[in-house]
Amino acid sequence: MTAQKIALVTGANRGIGLAISQKLAEQDMHVIMTARDKNLLQQECDTLKSAGYSVEGHVLDVTGYEQANALIAQLIAKHQRIDVLINNAGIAVDQWVPGSDVSMDVVKQTMETNCFASLNLIQQVLPHMKTTGYGRIVNMSTELASLEGMQMGMTLAYRASKAALNCITKIFSIELADYADIKINAAAPGWVKTNLGGDDAELTPEQGADTPVWLATLGSDGPSGDFYRERKVYPW
Ligand SMILES: NC(=O)c1ccc[n+]([C@@H]2O[C@H](COP(=O)([O-])OP(=O)(O)OC[C@H]3O[C@@H](n4cnc5c(N)ncnc54)[C@H](OP(=O)(O)O)[C@@H]3O)[C@@H](O)[C@H]2O)c1
Repeated sequence: MTAQKIALVTGANRGIGLAISQKLAEQDMHVIMTARDKNLLQQECDTLKSAGYSVEGHVLDVTGYEQANALIAQLIAKHQRIDVLINNAGIAVDQWVPGSDVSMDVVKQTMETNCFASLNLIQQVLPHMKTTGYGRIVNMSTELASLEGMQMGMTLAYRASKAALNCITKIFSIELADYADIKINAAAPGWVKTNLGGDDAELTPEQGADTPVWLATLGSDGPSGDFYRERKVYPW
């Protein structure tokens, strides 16, 4: 019998992260759900637990590295491994703000949350994935970060943070060339109806979760080091 897979999802108390958590739990994974808002996290965790899913919740601000690193150590001690990391937590504070008007505080906060915090979590889980020889890392990106597809200005902090995250995805995939069953990819969920995406968005969180969940459950012959939207390669 193969051991139950252990997945860690950031930003799991609402939106796409919550939908990803449920979908992974539906595939018999044990899902560690994390976010900052304790009450909402507890509520969503309890709902999934009472529906029979295997989940646990932990308050985590991903930008607090000491807290994040202590949590990873605690989770490894408890579960012996983390098989799947979904770097989903994200903010988009400067939506439709011109680059010349965005404050450095917003740029730094956005880079910290969307990019540096994801890098930190990758660095924390990778040694354990290398020990087991198995891992799936999914970095939540956006088509707005595609350099090839870039045709409009605005939203500089958000888009630059995700373009940097794309770059991090590619670099790690190259460094992981000797680990065939550790895969790292970036996912663009589409325009999704959430707090971040707004009410006019076209997709449900469940639809937005499809590509990241697909990447999190790739078989051993699956791809690594690419950017996907609707399960198809999207230009960097
Ligand atoms: N919605 C879209 O159309 C769309 C499009 C492209 C990409 N994306 C990406 O998809 C991901 C999820 O977005 P969403 O639309 O589901 O947004 P959302 O509904 O606003 O959810 C964002 C999640 O991130 C968490 N979060 C924010 N800052 C955090 C921090 N410092 N530490 C830990 N958790 C934090 C939030 O929980 P707490 O506030 O409780 O911490 C929440 O769970 C993001 O990376 C976003 O960039 C979304």
